[in-house]
Order: sequence, then structure tokens, then C-alpha cells
Amino acid sequence: MRTVNIILKKRRGEALSYREIEHLITGFTRGDIPDYQMAAWAMAVYFRGMSGEETADLTELMQKSGDEIDLSSVDGIKVDKHSTGGVGDKTTLVLAPLVAAAGVPVAKMSGRGLGHTGGTLDKLESFSRFSVDMTREAFIDQVNRIGVAIVGQTENLTPADKQLYALRDVTATVDSIPLIASSVMSKKLAAGADVIVLDVKVGSGAFMKTEAEAFRLARTMVEIGNRLNRKTIAVVSDMNQPLGQAVGNALEVREAIDTLKGDGPEDVTELCLELASHMLVAAGKGDSRKQARQHVQRLMKSGKALEKLKELVRAQGGDDREVDEPDRLPQAPLKIDVRADQDGVVDSVDAEQIGMAAMSLGAGRETKGDVIDLAVGIVLHKKIGDAVHKGEPVATIHANDASKAKRAVDMVSKAVQLTDPSQQVTIPSLIYGVVD
Ligand code: URA
Repeated sequence: MRTVNIILKKRRGEALSYREIEHLITGFTRGDIPDYQMAAWAMAVYFRGMSGEETADLTELMQKSGDEIDLSSVDGIKVDKHSTGGVGDKTTLVLAPLVAAAGVPVAKMSGRGLGHTGGTLDKLESFSRFSVDMTREAFIDQVNRIGVAIVGQTENLTPADKQLYALRDVTATVDSIPLIASSVMSKKLAAGADVIVLDVKVGSGAFMKTEAEAFRLARTMVEIGNRLNRKTIAVVSDMNQPLGQAVGNALEVREAIDTLKGDGPEDVTELCLELASHMLVAAGKGDSRKQARQHVQRLMKSGKALEKLKELVRAQGGDDREVDEPDRLPQAPLKIDVRADQDGVVDSVDAEQIGMAAMSLGAGRETKGDVIDLAVGIVLHKKIGDAVHKGEPVATIHANDASKAKRAVDMVSKAVQLTDPSQQVTIPSLIYGVVD
């Protein structure tokens, strides 16, 4: 089989066979196929797309390119949740203990943040001494003991995806729906859960800028799951403004704690209830979504959901007093308000800009090796549609460095756009739909 002929076939827009995709993926992972040929193929895919069968074949080959996690020794239906990435997205911090408290085992591998979106592992490390490194045996043992564990991805999970993603990143081929869908799903399938619940973000702060693109991505990932016999459900949700009020690691942990107590911001709470109810029904806990939703609301009110977070923090070496007393979490010394320069109504909050402002404060990484500052970030006091008076704070910057704080104030002022109070403002829906 000649690699150049496979590239040519895709360039002509023809579908590749399993054997041809296998030739590419195994050859590339072994180092037999050079970057320039793989990049040419990725660009051909970018322009010509892939059929459902090709996309599933590519996913399966990447899934099987490295370690696969065997969760068969964990009792019950294991459900994983994945978000395609957004600003202020702390849903995993809420959902993992919440659904575990409902009796659904959560064996979760998470990632670190890069660029303007944060990572669950970084957020969890806001708890003193919290460890995300664990042997596979300890991971399984913890899920069997307390129903939940959250760890970093093993080094050898989907190496083919790792290599291909790095190549796509520098050859302008990231934003191809079949390539994104296969990349995400290969990792989720290798991580071993029985059911995958996806939160596909759409809007200015997300990969997918339009609803049409987000639904295409959602349908492509659900189809991959169906073809590879893994139940997959996708919720398409808004990222035209940050989720909740807090952006930044320890600040988001505080908001997740509030949400687990039933006192979180409306949008975080609503999205968590939506995702949790899908997770519970898919795991066979509850006959209807309505019933599942009521069940998790009771777990929030009774304190059982918060208790599960404390168990998780304790089990992974962290200080669970920080759950009851969040003032013990890392806090930045400088708190500077960003004030409205006119009366008005919030017309837009550029999520990507807010994410970049948080990153410039040190909450996120520009490059993989950067060390992050867990305490810093932004708390938004106003969301789209809220009325504001001149001089009122629209956000507070939490910073460790005055010059970084000043830059962030400028960025946040530009990101929060006000309009005249007489103007009609469209408030984006939180949930656009579900694909299953
Ligand atoms: N996230 C992934 O894991 N892969 C992509 O291709 C894009 C986003």
C-alpha cells in the first residue's frame, strides 16, 4: 500500500477503507509515515471530510493505539462526561461527586488546561495536597470504595491521537469535524466507561462558533459511539458568555462547592442538573429524567453531594476542611473591580476574551510547561441581559501582580459590552438541544 495513493484518494473526495486508515495510523504512530504526508492527508480530510464509517474506523484505530482502561472490575454502569471546552466550565467538579452520591460510579480521567480554557485537574489541585497521580489499581480501588476518582490521563492513552493532534495544531487542520470528533471519542472510548455524556459547547468562547456546527459535531460523536457500541448522548450548550460567574481555578472550586450545596449560579446549576439527569437515566438510576433531576436536587439539599466531594478530596490526599471553609483555598491579595462607564444593559460578554484575561493573570497556560497560579482569576457580577448603573462593578479581578491586574481590567472592560437600556438584548439559551 502506498501512502501517496491514499492521500490522493482522499484528495479526490473518496472514502478510505479500514485497511487504508490503519496503514496511515499505525505507520504514523510507529514513525514510518513522515509528518509531511500525514499533514497532507489531514488537509485533504479538512477539505473533503470523512464518511461516518471512516470516522468510526479512525476513532477505533486511535483508541486502540495505546493503553485502554478496563473498568470491568467496577460494579455498575460506568458513565463518563466530557465537555468540548469552555470558559468557567466547572461542571465536572460538580457532576463527579453529585452522580457518585446518586450511586453511579465515576472513574474519570481528566486533563489540564491549555490556552483560554481551564482543566479539571488544575482546578482540583486548588485543594492543598490533592493528588491526581494514582496507579491503575488504586484508581479502581477508590472507585469501588467511595464511588468516584479523578486522575490524570495515563501517558500512553491514544498516542496516535496525541501525535496527530500536535501535527494538526501546526498545520491549520484542527477545526475539522471528523478529526475533532474522532480525537475526542478515541480518548473517551479508551478510558473505558459504558456510557459517554458529552457537553458540546457553542458560541464565542467555544471551538464551535455556530449552532449548526455544534450539532454537526454532536451528531458525529454520537454516531461514532453508536457504531462502536458505546451509548453516547450529547447536550449542546451555550458558551457565548462564561459559565457561571467565576473563571480561575480556586475561584471555580468555590463556585462548584456552592453549586453542590444548591446555592450556585443559575446557569451552572441548570446545566449540571441537565447533564446529571442524562447520566443517571443512562446508568439505570431513575426511570425518567424528571425523576433523576429531583433525586440529584435532593442530594444537593441534604448535603450528601457535598459530603461526597469531601470524601473525594480526602481519598486523594487533599484537605477536606477547605470544602466546608472555602476561605482556606488559595486567595489572591489584590481584588480590583471593573466598573461600568455608563448606565446600560449587558449586551455581550466575550467568553474567549475573559478566558484570555484570566490566562494573562496566570490562571491558565500559554504553553504546556507554564506554572499556573491557582488563586487568580475573574468573578463576573453581571451576565448578558443584566442592568448596570454607571460606576457599578461588572467584574472583580483577583490578582497577584498589579501590572497584570491592570491589563486584565482593560481586557475585561472590553469583553463586557453594554448597550443603551432602551435596546432589546437577546439572552442566549443555555441548552440548545440533545442528540442521542
Ligand atoms: N479536543 C480534542 O481532544 N481534540 C480535538 O481535535 C479538538 C479538541
